[in-house]
Amino acid sequence: MTSPDHWPEIRGIAYGGDYTPEQWPQEVWREDVALMREAGVNLVSVGIFAWALIETSEGVFDFAWLDELLDLLHENGVSVDLGTPTASPPAWFFATHPDARVVTREGVTMGFGARGMASHSSPAYRAAIVRIASALAERYGSHPAVVMWHVHNEYGVPVGEDYSDQSVRAFRDWLREKYGTLDALNAAWGTAFWGQRYGEWDHIGAPAAAPSVVNPAQRLDFARFTDHQLRQCFIAERDAIWAHASQPVTTNFMANQSWTTDMWAWAREVDIVSDDHYLWAADPEGEIGLAIAADLTRSVGGGKPWILMEHSTSAVNWQPRNVAKRPGEMARNSLSHVARGADAVLFFQWRASRSGAEKFHSAMIPHAGTSSRVWREVVDLGGALARLDEVRGSRVAADVAILWDFESFWAQDLEWRPSVDISHAERVRAFYERLWRDGITADFALPGQDLSAYRLVIAPAQYLLSARDAANLTAYVQAGGTLVVSFFSAIVDENDAVHPGGFVAPLRDALGVVVEEFLPLREGALHAVRWSGSASATLHADAWQEDLVLAGADVIATYVDGPGAGKPAITRHAHGTGHAWYLSTRLDAEGLRTVMAEVYRDAGLTASAHPEGLEVVVRRGATADYSIAINHRDEDAVLAIAGDELLSGEPVDGSLVVPAGGVAVVRTARPTTPSS
Ligand code: GAL
Repeated sequence: MTSPDHWPEIRGIAYGGDYTPEQWPQEVWREDVALMREAGVNLVSVGIFAWALIETSEGVFDFAWLDELLDLLHENGVSVDLGTPTASPPAWFFATHPDARVVTREGVTMGFGARGMASHSSPAYRAAIVRIASALAERYGSHPAVVMWHVHNEYGVPVGEDYSDQSVRAFRDWLREKYGTLDALNAAWGTAFWGQRYGEWDHIGAPAAAPSVVNPAQRLDFARFTDHQLRQCFIAERDAIWAHASQPVTTNFMANQSWTTDMWAWAREVDIVSDDHYLWAADPEGEIGLAIAADLTRSVGGGKPWILMEHSTSAVNWQPRNVAKRPGEMARNSLSHVARGADAVLFFQWRASRSGAEKFHSAMIPHAGTSSRVWREVVDLGGALARLDEVRGSRVAADVAILWDFESFWAQDLEWRPSVDISHAERVRAFYERLWRDGITADFALPGQDLSAYRLVIAPAQYLLSARDAANLTAYVQAGGTLVVSFFSAIVDENDAVHPGGFVAPLRDALGVVVEEFLPLREGALHAVRWSGSASATLHADAWQEDLVLAGADVIATYVDGPGAGKPAITRHAHGTGHAWYLSTRLDAEGLRTVMAEVYRDAGLTASAHPEGLEVVVRRGATADYSIAINHRDEDAVLAIAGDELLSGEPVDGSLVVPAGGVAVVRTARPTTPSS
């Protein structure tokens, strides 16, 4: 990294979006910049899909239009996040290098005419991306408009895995590097099973479609390899840019919407973390998924401010039913991202495309033009963000960490698991949602990282847990932490092999339980759990039970019915000076509410007093705190607070009404007592 806080030179909270003037005649460019000024736009991403227009044939560049465009933007006070267009190689590239095309797991060679990169392992592609990134950086590295670099677009989507010959060869090299000997590989992959033992490196292939389930350790390594190769493509471009330019370099992630790349590892390679987020329209509470994505983005970047590189002003075009945002929703979404650490609010895209596959996607300037609700809200949002300059650089502090480990998710997603009803995404959301409703801000964390700053650590779905990471979690409890572990965690090691000693064995000291057998339930079967915590209650659950044997833990809830009837369902174990909870079933939201209320007591946490649906997150600045409140409710909500509301400029003397669907940002003097 060039510098840890290498933020683009731009005022306040950046505002703007992807800008594709290449789709429009030049007279529209002039109208665009005038409208950008009207909306308060100060940053646009340019050139992301323009490879064919910049390098018109191999090694032949046309920079004239880009020169003119960057000058025009600069003259109008709009800074540029300059894209390298390598997510969509031109037709000439594939015509010249047909073997660089991506092959799917089923053996289909991908055609041209959409978008999507070439094989991450193609030497021709690697050479071409370095050539164009270098050419752009050389030409625009000192252009005054260019304040940052946007490498590629959403690595891993729409293509990540590649089963071409080039990829298979690279996979073998990667395996040799990792394992050194075939004996080590055979042991790690457990190839004694189904007679898969390898005697030659050249006999190893990518885990392509096969008659039955392919070796899961091989698939897991292929996922790691894919992530690594994609990252090497990024690094090649980044280094080419760094050789000629000093502006920060980023690439846009897709937190909580794509699992192909390991954001933790990628975040270490970028100057600034940035993320794209789109609401999932089928989810009536998409704001919770948004909050997960935003918190994850902040967490992988170590808590530093980040860039919301894309979201939408209204509907997208690629979901089954593309629900339009309702008045005020775009501002609420934007402020939620800011509340969770974003210092830039950008959209896909500036002006709606007339042609092509995305013509039904919303934009800052919709097809209806500037006489539209969307445009008026875009202008209002620009005005609102301009009042938040001082929020920039402030940080979000969290007392709770939720474990989020891509390797574990990759492994859990493989075939032949004990039940199709259990999913990491579902459990992460369930626990996160509980915290969100309780107004408790969470970070995401890796199981092996230093967790000592957190009062509570939740492992909603840590299927793969290395012995080393298990020791880290155990030490966290020993030292006074509160740990919650949900079922189907600590099952396998790094090679997807069951831990010696059985399920949850590496966490036995912390949890004080042994899982003898999984007891998955039939589709739709519900069951009850008798809770005997601080008050007794009946909790409801589905999908999963376990034959749980105590090894020191106390029983807090018992299965009432189902295959585990009479056996422990939820336990709590004192270990060192901390406590570890184990939840062996899939509780519904109410059940989790009961359990987590008691867990909060162990952790010394309190749920917020705000009405549910009033999202409030605090960003801490050098001299003040900023409470950002987003009211998702249909009625006004009262926030008990004193300070200054920055959007209206009005003082607040102890209570603020946040209107139904509205937002507020309140600055309060920095508390001085050590305990606050
Ligand atoms: C993103 C992508 C953009 C645009 C957008 C539409 O994933 O980066 O280029 O396609 O989706 O929602």
